[in-house]
Amino acid sequence: MSTEAAVRWDGAAYSLANAHHRAFDEEFLAPLGLRAGLRVLDVGCGTGELPERIAGIVASGTTGTPVTAVPAGEVVGVEPDPSNFAVADRRARPGLRFVQARAQDLAAAVGGGPSFDVVLSVAALHWIPGADHPRVLAQMASVLRPDGLLRLDLGGSGQIERPREVLDALARRHGLPEAPWHFPTAADHAELLAGAGFSLDGGWARLLRQRRAFPGAADLRLWLRSQVLPAYLRGVDDAAAAQFTAEAEARCLQELRRDDGSYDQDYVRLDVLARRH
Ligand SMILES: C[S@@+](CC[C@H](N)C(=O)[O-])C[C@H]1O[C@@H](n2cnc3c(N)ncnc32)[C@H](O)[C@@H]1O
Repeated sequence: MSTEAAVRWDGAAYSLANAHHRAFDEEFLAPLGLRAGLRVLDVGCGTGELPERIAGIVASGTTGTPVTAVPAGEVVGVEPDPSNFAVADRRARPGLRFVQARAQDLAAAVGGGPSFDVVLSVAALHWIPGADHPRVLAQMASVLRPDGLLRLDLGGSGQIERPREVLDALARRHGLPEAPWHFPTAADHAELLAGAGFSLDGGWARLLRQRRAFPGAADLRLWLRSQVLPAYLRGVDDAAAAQFTAEAEARCLQELRRDDGSYDQDYVRLDVLARRH
């Protein structure tokens, strides 16, 4: 078993289970003032729901202005996982394309040069080792035009604490690798942003506390299988993965049930709006 193996996603399952992220898309996009003609890059776009929504704004040419007067906007989604990428890529059409690459290789993957008006990322950067974050932010800066906007959502310090306690302990008992997540504080991340050439004037790097809705046991199971347990199963063979999954589900159903009968989760998000110098 290698702790270096990549997390394996199941695109079909993830696309059924990301509604808890989509519920926050509207407020995430609001400060960007998106309009037709902008070029937008979504890093770690998963199965492509958010870039598809954004393409409907920037690449539609429907702002009340005649289409011919609006320059062609575009959304590019970058996603490394083969299964998530395949689901996203089925959405491709004029004004919306997908590139299979890691954030660490962003500039080369999208052609280099400061050609984007907005770079954004939702729920992806905490899957990247902390040591790589300066390089990822520097590459995001390099593809943004001067004054372009960076908008990030990622897990922040304190994210899903209770599930992690339960699962970390179980993974240790099973001899499984640690989850790769990196959940930074707002202060640490603000320092990295400054170092990569971003300004927080008129923006922010702050922690947000959210309650995410998982009404029943089936919702919790789908969440665990599609986006939580894969973090512990890098390089693990199918038999060991099945055993861990069964035990992890049973423990989580027991430990994570709230008094109101739901399995809602406490999310802590690092929420960023920054401007490239
Ligand atoms: C929870 S999903 C979020 C997907 C999507 N942004 C959304 O809002 O639904 C996390 C995504 O981060 C991607 N990811 C993991 N490591 C990455 C890396 N090094 N570079 C870019 N994306 C990465 C995963 O493949 C996965 O699709």
